[in-house]
Amino acid sequence: MLNHDDIKSHLKTSRVGREVLVYASTASTNDAAWHYASNKKNDGLAIFAEQQSAGRGRGGNKWISHKSQSILCSTLLLNEISRPEMLTLAVAVAVAEAIGRCGSKQAQIKWPNDILIGGKKVAGILVESKSSKGHFNYVIGIGINCHQKKDSFPPELRQTATSIDIESKIVCDRISLAKRLLVSLDEWLGETQKNSVAILDRWYELSAQLGHHVTLQYNRRSFTGRVLGIDPQEGLIVQLENGGVRIFSASHTVMVRCED
Ligand code: BTN
Repeated sequence: MLNHDDIKSHLKTSRVGREVLVYASTASTNDAAWHYASNKKNDGLAIFAEQQSAGRGRGGNKWISHKSQSILCSTLLLNEISRPEMLTLAVAVAVAEAIGRCGSKQAQIKWPNDILIGGKKVAGILVESKSSKGHFNYVIGIGINCHQKKDSFPPELRQTATSIDIESKIVCDRISLAKRLLVSLDEWLGETQKNSVAILDRWYELSAQLGHHVTLQYNRRSFTGRVLGIDPQEGLIVQLENGGVRIFSASHTVMVRCED
C-alpha cells in the first residue's frame, strides 16, 4: 500500500512533494488538491489516493481505476509564473521519464497528454488551472496504470490501454514509482522557469508521433499528415497529406490514429 512515510523517506525535492498526503479513498485527487489552494504554504503539495470514486480525465471523460492498482496523484502549484503550455509539456516529459523503460520499451508521449508504452496508453495527465488575484494556480493530475491485467480494462479499451505490469512482466513497485514521479516533476517543472529549450528537446526525444503519419479530428473534420513538431503555444504542427502545414490546438483536436 502507498503510505506517506515511505514516499517521503529520503525524498529530495525542492517544491513538488514538500508535503505529501495519502488517502485511502477520495472522489478525485484533483478536487482534494484544490481544497488546499487557499493557503500558499500548500504550494507543491502532492496528494495520492488508493481509490477514486469520481476520477476524471480530459474532455469530460471518467478515469476509472480499481483500488490500489494505479498511481493516482495530484500536485498543487500555487502562484505559478510558467506558461500553461510549457507546464503541460514539462509534465508529460516528467511522467514519461518517471515510468522509464518497461522491458525494452521506453514510455513515450502522445500529444497532447497521454503516455504510451508500446503504442498503448499507460498514463494520462489532467492539468487544471484557476486564476486568482492576477496569478495562476494549477492542479496537475496524473493517473498511471500499474497492476492492471488485460481484462481489468473495459472491452472497448483493451486494444488501446496497458499497464506497467503487463509491459514489464514484473510487479511494479508503486512506492518507488511515486517517489520517481515526484522527483521527475520537481526537476522538469523547475525547468519551465529557466530553460524551455531543454523541455522541448526532451519532449521531441520522447514523442511517439514526431515524423509519423497521424490522423486527427479538428472540429469534427478529419486531417491526415506527418507530424513536423510542436509549437508550445499553438499546438501540433502537421504537414498535411493534401498540401500545406497546419497547427492543431490541443483543446479542439482529437488524435485518432498514429501510423509508422
Ligand atoms: C486523461 O488521460 O484523460 C487524464 C486522466 C487523469 C487521471 C488522473 S488520476 C489522478 C487525478 N485525479 C483525477 O480525478 N484525475 C487525475
